[in-house]
Amino acid sequence: MYGKDSEEARRIFNAYGKYYNESEERNPNRKHLDQILFSMMKDVKGKKILDAGCGAGNYCKILVDMEAEVFGIDISPCMIDLAKEQCKDYKIDFRISDIENTPFDDNEFDIVISAFSLLYKKDLRSVLREFKRVLKKDGEAYVVVPHPVRKMVKYTHDYFETGKHWQNRGEMRFFNYYRTMEEYINSLALEGFSIKEIREPKPIKTSDNSFPHYLIIKSVSS
Ligand SMILES: C[S@@+](CC[C@H](N)C(=O)[O-])C[C@H]1O[C@@H](n2cnc3c(N)ncnc32)[C@H](O)[C@@H]1O
Repeated sequence: MYGKDSEEARRIFNAYGKYYNESEERNPNRKHLDQILFSMMKDVKGKKILDAGCGAGNYCKILVDMEAEVFGIDISPCMIDLAKEQCKDYKIDFRISDIENTPFDDNEFDIVISAFSLLYKKDLRSVLREFKRVLKKDGEAYVVVPHPVRKMVKYTHDYFETGKHWQNRGEMRFFNYYRTMEEYINSLALEGFSIKEIREPKPIKTSDNSFPHYLIIKSVSS
């Protein structure tokens, strides 16, 4: 129904999504990343925001606390159930959907966030095109991905080795599409986004602090 990669992602996160979320909640570098990401968003009060690949809804909750109107989509029904459970006291519209083909109208959102969800899509530009479609003119897109340099240092030892890779994380076996910095930036530009800011948070509390773990790209739909 959704295509091979999306079906695989759905299966993986149905099985391991809770474990993934718990391990992220214990990760000090993730907390640091989140602080930097939210500091890049100026005033979100009253803004309509889509969290594309929302997982357990952690960002959705924070954004509602910041007085935004929030929508969360995810391919995994288990993640959406977890998000609904975690956010039961919050007014958030959660739906099961592929980020490449969302149920929203053109020009609906002020902000789209994709945190670690583009990794499961082969056709990056097609997803960015969908983000651009649902964003208002001058709407902001925040793309958060594992830093391409980290992929090289930890896994491939070759910066230019891209494409689909399988790896283990504790008990979880999952895939990511590896990409270069060039591919992220050029794909955004080709789909009509202007880059506003790039952040490469310096890791904290780890022995692997000589390279960035994450990449955040803030861009605007022109
Ligand atoms: C690594 S988790 C990140 C979750 C959350 N954004 C976070 O930062 O903690 C990736 C999420 O993207 C979802 N996902 C993967 N492929 C997707 C797709 N094609 N459409 C929608 N969601 C997808 C997964 O189900 C999972 O919840």
